[in-house]
Amino acid sequence: MKNSFFMLSMLTVAFNMAAVSVTSPNGNLLLNVDVDNNGAPFYSLGYKGKTVVADSKLGLVADETAFTDGFRIVATDTATIDRSWEPVWGEYSSIRDHFKELAVKLEANDPAREMTIRFRLFDDGLGFRYEFPVQNGPNYLTVKDELTEFNYTGDHTLFCIPGDYDTDEYLWSETSFSGLSDALAGYNKHSEAQRVDGLTIQTPMLIKTADGIYINAHEAALDGYPAMLLDVDPEDFSMKSHLVPDRLGVSAYLLLPFNTPWRTLIVSDDPRDILASQLVLNLNEPCKIEDTSWIKPMKFVGVWWEMFTGNQKTWAYSDDSLAKPGVTDYTQLKPNGRHPANTENVKRYIDFAAKHGIDGVLVEGWNEGWEDWRSYHKNRQFLFDKPYPDFDLPALRDYAKEKGVKLIMHHETAANAADYDLQLDRAFKFMKDNNYDAVKTGYVGAIIPRSEHHTSQWMVDHARNVIERAAEYQIMVDSHEAPRPTGLCRTYPNWLAQESARGGEFESMGGNPPSHTCILPFTRLKGGPMDYTPGLFETRLSYYNEGKTSQAGTTLARQLALYLTMPSPMQMACDLPENYERFPDAFQFIEDVPVDWADSKYLEAEPNRYITVARLDKNSNDWYVGAITDENPRTATIDLSFLPAGKYVATIYEDAPDADWKENPQAYRIRTIDVKPGMKLKQPLAAGGGAAIRIQQKK
Ligand code: NOJ
Ligand code: CA
Repeated sequence: MKNSFFMLSMLTVAFNMAAVSVTSPNGNLLLNVDVDNNGAPFYSLGYKGKTVVADSKLGLVADETAFTDGFRIVATDTATIDRSWEPVWGEYSSIRDHFKELAVKLEANDPAREMTIRFRLFDDGLGFRYEFPVQNGPNYLTVKDELTEFNYTGDHTLFCIPGDYDTDEYLWSETSFSGLSDALAGYNKHSEAQRVDGLTIQTPMLIKTADGIYINAHEAALDGYPAMLLDVDPEDFSMKSHLVPDRLGVSAYLLLPFNTPWRTLIVSDDPRDILASQLVLNLNEPCKIEDTSWIKPMKFVGVWWEMFTGNQKTWAYSDDSLAKPGVTDYTQLKPNGRHPANTENVKRYIDFAAKHGIDGVLVEGWNEGWEDWRSYHKNRQFLFDKPYPDFDLPALRDYAKEKGVKLIMHHETAANAADYDLQLDRAFKFMKDNNYDAVKTGYVGAIIPRSEHHTSQWMVDHARNVIERAAEYQIMVDSHEAPRPTGLCRTYPNWLAQESARGGEFESMGGNPPSHTCILPFTRLKGGPMDYTPGLFETRLSYYNEGKTSQAGTTLARQLALYLTMPSPMQMACDLPENYERFPDAFQFIEDVPVDWADSKYLEAEPNRYITVARLDKNSNDWYVGAITDENPRTATIDLSFLPAGKYVATIYEDAPDADWKENPQAYRIRTIDVKPGMKLKQPLAAGGGAAIRIQQKK
């Protein structure tokens, strides 16, 4: 009798051993991990006593074997970590990394398999990843599917963009599980990009529950693995990982041991916490670059907007083609006279930058290849060391140096990533030889090799290779059309910014509604800074070309606020010098505003509606405040409790009382008032408007 009871209790113990729970350091989040009767691992997540993610499966399927069931928990390791680190640049000078870790070791027989699922539970969310040691069998995996589920608990509000293997340059939907089908049906397919059929969305995405819990779902440290999309089941309110495959249907080729990226959920009942969260950065590896002294946050202007305004300006030097019989080089082509990347015009940008203390000048359309864009049949690609005949690079290099301005390189690859890999060393050496320290890269079009997508494993590897090679040459990178960021800028801080979302350029292609920049900080920006290209002062396209009717979704004052609400260490002032000269008092704010911060305080926030943030300059005691609203006017309440004791003066750049993004976008006012700690400023914002404030201590 005693013996059999003992046996029973052993069994009970064996079952109980399987269930593990852990709470976040402050106790608000509760994680449970277990295996079911088939030995399939699953987890659930609670927040302040409410279920956020109900029991959800974990696992991975490879050709060689399936890590899905038959498992038992053979060991659990727990630890509490509390440490801080200092980013090279960012929103904070010091970041606390405080979490409870739970590593669940799983083993299965027949066939023998093992994996560890490592969970980190922070006060503001959860991260977990799969760790595959060398197996008792082949030491590689051909991954077909990841099973990770996120089973939510109701018909929550979803802020998302359509699943796509190639582009994330979409406007955001505010919908729900039950409304998703209709919302996704409303999107057009981008040319050459691969929209996923069915109810698939991208990360980062945001959820708001009926009882006011906000959840950002994304991933951290995407390296050596494809990006994750999410398949949505609107009946069950569930989402499941959908790894981007190559065109053979394989998502990842892994050599073991291998750790996957972290799957992340930032959770809070205060939307400001979602904006302030550093969870994604915390889950990335520390900086791998030993000497970071050459990495310098910067502002820049550029030969760029000229080509978007509808005034027929071109990146190309000629309207002819090099493919013409008998034509062997560019000196034989007729210049089209609409090519802004010419020596004289670039000097004008350099002069403007020098006059206003702007660090850099980006020049697009400086190099050979734009005439025969994507003419792959002729096997001709962009050349990254061949300036056009009207771009006198040695003269401009010397002129920029003399004026104390840095030229910024542009490498548009037309998505021929394979060819870019081959040119990379030559291109980076050419940059350094000519005094360039930063490059903007681009991958417009379908990826070459043709079997790959913009966010497949091969391209994730390519992006990492570019960043590492750039670091060897001490080059800073701003990448466009690259896999969306997942915090790798912590590990490689020379990756200053990425586009990876619908940026300001779309103001010339249909426009971005004011709400667009009220959702990006809750979603896309959780992976890292965006090269959004703020600073548009001439917001009506008809100004450039009478035939154009489109208009940017913004007032002028709001464009200044974006320097605070869309923080980036590489920040453009996107408009034309001549437009800035028309509004010199407003441009003063762009001259003054820093791009690197000691501290940040999110004062007000609601996704897709409004954001008010205060930031402390890393290099002075000045505070800056930015406030934006959606299509509705609003009065922001700016609680100045964050100011240390003292007397201050605030310079306020605001919408004029009659401003309105559609009717009167350029009506702004600048006023100066005395402020002190504890004051609550009531700041009116026009429809589609914003306000930007500089706060300085009184002498
Ligand atoms: C798309 C990029 O987003 C844009 O900034 C760039 O000017 C064009 N490609 C041309 O390279
Ligand atoms: Ca783009």
